[in-house]
Amino acid sequence: MIMNFRIFRYDPEKDDEPYYRDYEIEADPKDRILDCLNRIRAEKDPTLSFRMSCGHGVCGSDGMRINGASALACQKLVRDFKENEEVLIEPLQVFRVVKDLIVDLDPFFERYNSIRPYLITKNPVPDKERFQSVEEHRTFEDAIRCILCACCTASCPVNQDKATEAYIGPASLVRAFRYLFDSRDEGSTERIALLDNKDGAWGCQTKWMCTKVCPKEIPVTKEIFEIKKRILESRKGKK
Ligand code: SF4
Ligand code: FES
Repeated sequence: MIMNFRIFRYDPEKDDEPYYRDYEIEADPKDRILDCLNRIRAEKDPTLSFRMSCGHGVCGSDGMRINGASALACQKLVRDFKENEEVLIEPLQVFRVVKDLIVDLDPFFERYNSIRPYLITKNPVPDKERFQSVEEHRTFEDAIRCILCACCTASCPVNQDKATEAYIGPASLVRAFRYLFDSRDEGSTERIALLDNKDGAWGCQTKWMCTKVCPKEIPVTKEIFEIKKRILESRKGKK
């Protein structure tokens, strides 16, 4: 089938302004949008820039906006679009464009690192593993699916608003949830201190866009709500 793409283009080293370029290609209904982008780059325009690696929804590198919604290009199939429909491809919002569909994710990972995304332990290392029951593991197993694609943060109206852009964003909060609710973690006091502020968990205004776009179907908004509940419980414990 014939597919028409309108793709955002911008090379800050050469272009005064971003612009859009149209491409028409032949595609199989089973192709993914990522296959189409690869074909456009191979056959029509080698200057088109985008990130990709695994091609299978694992690495999180091909987050972009497809018809206005953040998504992974490797998880969208051609057959989900109509023949001759114009498919609009743009870079993720919120982040600075480096070139075409590539955005600067350094601020995303700086915020992610700020929540201490690793197990904090205080007791000596046990002889065997740190034991955890299946039920305890289930508490945070949705959050483990996060591939740090940044689709949620890019879609969040709070992160998109210049006045509240310091908010650490949903992806960092999903990872914070993952450790806060891990029975083996012993850093809840430090974690709650990092999250209990207007740019932490309280920055979330429950707009649900993160949950809507997450390609791994993580209940992002619900997990942020659970963090808020845990913060309130800890405040009561201090009284
Ligand atoms: Fe991507 Fe979902 Fe993780 Fe956000 S929570 S970074 S949308 S996988
Ligand atoms: Fe790895 Fe899409 S290319 S998630």
